[in-house]
Amino acid sequence: MWTRERLQTLVEEKLQDCLFVVVSNREPYVHSHAHGAIQCQVPPSGLITALDPVMRACGGTWIAHGSGNADKETVDERDRVRVPPDDPSYTLRRVWLSKGEVDGYYHGFSSDALWPLCHIAYTRPTFNADEWSTYKAVNERFAQVVLKEVGARRAFVFVQDYHLTLMPRILRDANPNVVVAHFWHIPWPNREAFRVCPWQHDILDGLLGNHLLGFHLRYHCNNFLDTVDRAIEARVDRDRYQITRGEKKTAVRPFPISIDFEEVARRAGGPDVEAEMQRLKRSLELEGRILVMGLDRIDYTKGIPDRLRAIDRFLDRNPEYRGKVVFIQTGVPSRVHVPAYRRINDEIDTLIDEINWKYETGDWRPIIDMRGSQSAVTLMALRRLASLAIVSSLHDGMNLVAKEFVASSLGEDTVLILSEFTGAARELTDALLVNPYSADQVAEVMREALEMPLEERQRRMSRMRAIVRENNVYKWAGDIVSGMVGLRSGG
Ligand code: G6P
Repeated sequence: MWTRERLQTLVEEKLQDCLFVVVSNREPYVHSHAHGAIQCQVPPSGLITALDPVMRACGGTWIAHGSGNADKETVDERDRVRVPPDDPSYTLRRVWLSKGEVDGYYHGFSSDALWPLCHIAYTRPTFNADEWSTYKAVNERFAQVVLKEVGARRAFVFVQDYHLTLMPRILRDANPNVVVAHFWHIPWPNREAFRVCPWQHDILDGLLGNHLLGFHLRYHCNNFLDTVDRAIEARVDRDRYQITRGEKKTAVRPFPISIDFEEVARRAGGPDVEAEMQRLKRSLELEGRILVMGLDRIDYTKGIPDRLRAIDRFLDRNPEYRGKVVFIQTGVPSRVHVPAYRRINDEIDTLIDEINWKYETGDWRPIIDMRGSQSAVTLMALRRLASLAIVSSLHDGMNLVAKEFVASSLGEDTVLILSEFTGAARELTDALLVNPYSADQVAEVMREALEMPLEERQRRMSRMRAIVRENNVYKWAGDIVSGMVGLRSGG
């Protein structure tokens, strides 16, 4: 079983003489001005959920964009701050970007071209040449920061996600002492979908600068091999999952990402959570009612309108549940400067309003809208109070919200409805798997979930808990670190 201590030992033994550097766009701790003081927040991101516990265990340096409006006031003269604030165990090195750079590289090419390109959710990617040039310039900037950080030392550089596709090539060409690995946190689509990107060659060439490239699923690895095979000059070895371009090799492997199961379960059982559960029960009038929850970053890939339509269908078909079931939608607005995200928020507002208007009676409203920033304790209390959670993503690399819900189910008596289009559906086969595009099917499965006998609920949940406990985030990181070390010694 992988634990934090086992990962620590692996890192100490194998990476002793090497620097360990993580690079991502999103930073794990954001400092902002609020109510006359500086506050520190953890942004909603699967990448942060997974990597923060790993960095706490490994130490090292995490390089990321400093996006908070108090970030500059909290770093030292070398743009560094030790984090987490309450238990400093690694270094966050912030990279500063101008508003124009954030618009072109982050809102533009990353969020409005690559994100919809890789998620098949029928939102069209927008390709804009100015945004692409800013994206290239920002990748170059990140690479220069990493190269300076590494200097003449040997280093393992672990790059994250679709914001930094060009950086691995720059690093590998500039410094033969670094081993570069990259984890792709979102799906890799099939080659037909990917080939509409006008700069696909540059992106693939950039990614093939990596020594090791990880995806959540073997299916995504296969899609990547197909894409490379068709798009650029490279030798693709499907037996070894290895690509050679210009004599340089890239190993392509699946590493299903996960959470710190024990820590989530420990926090779920904390006295602060118990107290918050009591408070919420009273303030939301949940006594005697069944709570169903949805918790998502507000994104059009998460299938939130589809879930709301299924709830409408459920209440329409099952009038006996009116007054008895309460749906809570929580989640933090995200990427609000991108038009498609503003539209999804408006659509959710309208649907919640329509459904509540249609069914509400004296003291009961079917949907409680809790979108916005909620504390970690409140979210945990809601997970504990819920009898059922619905994850209805239209397409999702993994979905750690589903795994967090499983880890928080201390009584093992809750049910998870999970979209079959998430990476998590491959592991959590005891969830009730649904096609979120079918409101009828989801409504039908909701009823099945609410009427499932206790014994079956427990059997399913305890199997899912065993899987997440074993395939935890320390295993994910341990497998990647072992892979990097193997490549260094094996060439
Ligand atoms: C997904 C991506 C992450 C990203 C997160 C939040 O999980 O894979 O890279 O950090 O969404 O999105 P944001 O744009 O706010 O960083």
